[in-house]
Amino acid sequence: MNVLLIGSGGREHALAWKLAQSPRLGKLYAAPGNPGIAEAAELVALDPADHRAVIDFCRRHSIGLVVIGPEAPLVDGLADNLRTTGIPVFGPNRIPAQLEGSKGFTKDLCARAGIPTAGYARVSDRLAAEAALPDFGLPVVIKADGLAAGKGVIIAETEAEAAAALDTMFDGSFGAAGAELVIEEYMTGEEVSFFALVDGETVLPFGSAQDHKRVGDGDTGPNTGGMGAYSPASIFTPDLETRALDEIVRPTARALAEAGTPYSGILYAGLMLTSEGPKLVEYNARFGDPECQVLMMRLDSDLLDLMLATATGELADATPPRFRPDVALTVVMAAKGYPGTPEKGGAIGGLDAAEATGAKVFHAGTAQDGGKLVANGGRVLNVTALGPTVLEAQAAAYAALDAIDFPTGFCRRDIGWREVARLKG
Ligand code: AMP
Ligand code: GLY
Repeated sequence: MNVLLIGSGGREHALAWKLAQSPRLGKLYAAPGNPGIAEAAELVALDPADHRAVIDFCRRHSIGLVVIGPEAPLVDGLADNLRTTGIPVFGPNRIPAQLEGSKGFTKDLCARAGIPTAGYARVSDRLAAEAALPDFGLPVVIKADGLAAGKGVIIAETEAEAAAALDTMFDGSFGAAGAELVIEEYMTGEEVSFFALVDGETVLPFGSAQDHKRVGDGDTGPNTGGMGAYSPASIFTPDLETRALDEIVRPTARALAEAGTPYSGILYAGLMLTSEGPKLVEYNARFGDPECQVLMMRLDSDLLDLMLATATGELADATPPRFRPDVALTVVMAAKGYPGTPEKGGAIGGLDAAEATGAKVFHAGTAQDGGKLVANGGRVLNVTALGPTVLEAQAAAYAALDAIDFPTGFCRRDIGWREVARLKG
C-alpha cells in the first residue's frame, strides 16, 4: 500500500521511520518532508493547503492512506476533503479537530459531557473578560481560543498581570486566535500526556509521555514546543489510565459521535493529575512533538496496520498496540535563539557517529545546503534512545547527542529529571 505523509518535523520523521518498518508498505511519499524523512520516503513538493493538488496526487500515485501529522491541515479540513473523495485518512475532520482548534469548543463539550476540567468562562471582549476575572481568583489562566502555536496561554499571578494579559490578547497579537478568550481556573498537579487511537466510538490507549516545555534546565525560561520527552510516564499508573479513559477520553469520543462529528485519528489528552484525579488541560488532534518520537521508539506493533484500522473504522477488531517495556527518551537539539529567532544555516555533523551508539536521530528542522546538512528551524534534531530504565535511556540519549557536532545548537541537559527523581526515590 502506498502512503502519503503530510508534515515536515521530527514527529513526521518518527512516523515515516516506523511506517517504513511495515511489511505492508508499498511506497511512502512525504509532503513536504525533510532530509531525515527522505531516508524513508520520497519527498514531494505538495502544498497541504491546496486540497485539490493533494487529492490529484493521491489518485495519480494510488495512495491507500494519507497520514496528516500537524494540526493546521486538520483544522483546515484536509481530512474532510480526502474522505469525501474516498481516500482513507489518519486524522480527524475539521469539526472534531476543533478539540485542538478552539479551546472554547473543548470546554463546552466537557461541560456538556461532565468531563473533569478547570472551570472556565468564554469571553469575546474586554468588558466581559474584566467582569469574569474576579470569579477565578489568582493565579488565573487566560487563553486565546484558537491555534497559537503553543504561545496563547498566559498564567497571571496578580491582577496587574491579568490586566496585561488581556491587553496582549485583545491587541491583535494572536490575530483571529485571540479574538475570543477562555478564562480558566488554575489547576495544580503534575502534567502527563496520554494518547489514544479513536475511530468514532472505539478508543484504544496508545501510551503516555511527559515533555519539558521550558527552554532551560530546571524548567526555567520561556515556553517552547517541547525540549525533550520520555515514555512511559510512570506516575500515570494503570488505575489513572483507566480513570482518564472512562472519565475523559471515552466520553469525549461519545459526545462527538453523538453530535454526528465522530473523531478519527490519534487523540492527545494533556492531563493534570490533581488531588481529585485526572483533569483535562487541553486536547490536541495529532501526535505530540516530541512525544511521538518516544512513542514510536517503543511501539512494537505495525503502525500502518493501526493507522489503517483507525482510518477505516475497524479499531474494534484490531489487535491493541503493543509497546516494549523499555523507557524511551528524546533530547531536542535546538538552534541558538529558540524559542525566539533561531539561528539558521548552522552546520550539523556526526549523525552517523550518534546513531552508531544505537540511538535514533530524528530530523525536526534540517535542510540540505550544497550537500551539507544545516539547521533550518527552531527545534533541529531529536536524539532518541531506549533503555531498561529512564537512567539508561537518558545516558544513551546524551551519549549519542555528545557525538553530534552542531556548534550553533543547544539542548537541555536534564531531560527526564522527574522520572529520574522518582526512580531514585
Ligand atoms: P494548553 O495550551 O492549554 O496546554 O496550555 C499550555 C500549558 O499551560 C499547559 O501545559 C499547562 O502547563 C498550563 N495550563 C493550561 N491551562 C491550565 C490550567 N487551567 N491550570 C494550570 N495550568 C494550566
Ligand atoms: N510537545 C507538545 C505538543 O506537541 O503540543
